Amino acid sequence: MTRLRRGRGKLAVDPEELRQIDALHRAGEGLIGGDPYKRHARNSLVPPEPAPWFCVAQASPAHWRRLRRFLLEAPVEIEIGAGDGRFILEWAEQHPDRHFLAFEIRLKHVKRVYAGVVERGLDNLWVCDDDARGVLLNIVPSNTVEVVHLLMPDPWWKKRQARRRLISPYMLDVLAAVLKPGGIFRFETDVEGYPELVDMLVADHPAFIPHNPALAERFRDAPLTSRQRWCEEHGVPVHRRYYTRR
Ligand SMILES: C[S@@+](CC[C@H](N)C(=O)[O-])C[C@H]1O[C@@H](n2cnc3c(N)ncnc32)[C@H](O)[C@@H]1O
Repeated sequence: MTRLRRGRGKLAVDPEELRQIDALHRAGEGLIGGDPYKRHARNSLVPPEPAPWFCVAQASPAHWRRLRRFLLEAPVEIEIGAGDGRFILEWAEQHPDRHFLAFEIRLKHVKRVYAGVVERGLDNLWVCDDDARGVLLNIVPSNTVEVVHLLMPDPWWKKRQARRRLISPYMLDVLAAVLKPGGIFRFETDVEGYPELVDMLVADHPAFIPHNPALAERFRDAPLTSRQRWCEEHGVPVHRRYYTRR
């Protein structure tokens, strides 16, 4: 990743903006790339089934069943916004006994993650190129996921783009639905103000237990993402949060 930049300012909590974002999310709006179920052009980059690449609008019923089996056969972890896959490819290789699903909407990145799956010969990682917010509830069985990783998500500073921000009370509903009791929502960011915003939303959500720093131990050996590596090199602090599903 070459164009990594330092963030700007602090993400402020704006209750009115939050309310608007949440309403849009509940209405299924603000998805990047639009409604995944209404994609009209076939994406020729999606490799032929049974490749572990999932695209909601193109997957055959057999591929839906294949993914579902994969998500039920072993403990599952999900990454939303995997970028170039630096974290998830390494993490999946370290944990052959677990199954992983990586969401990433930028095709350039999805291709890289998928190429990594092939190069490393991984049989425990699938990629999905749809907006996670739009499809998670439909493709991931409820109460099954052990960890959701959301690492260094875009803050979407501009007001007109704020609807793309992943976290809202609605998105916490979605994460609560897919996580199993005791499952962890791992959130990491270098954007000042973002952890406090998520802390606040989590505190208001009945399905989550607030941040528990002791859970950091579980991710002690987790590889850094590209953005995290950049932060480390440039002395930019990364804030880490671990919330538990009740
Ligand atoms: C700031 S980048 C961070 C990438 C990586 N996690 C890292 O730390 O280097 C955020 C990534 O999330 C992806 N993304 C944003 N919203 C998404 C969504 N709703 N579903 C799936 N991916 C998303 C973007 O395309 C982008 O690659």
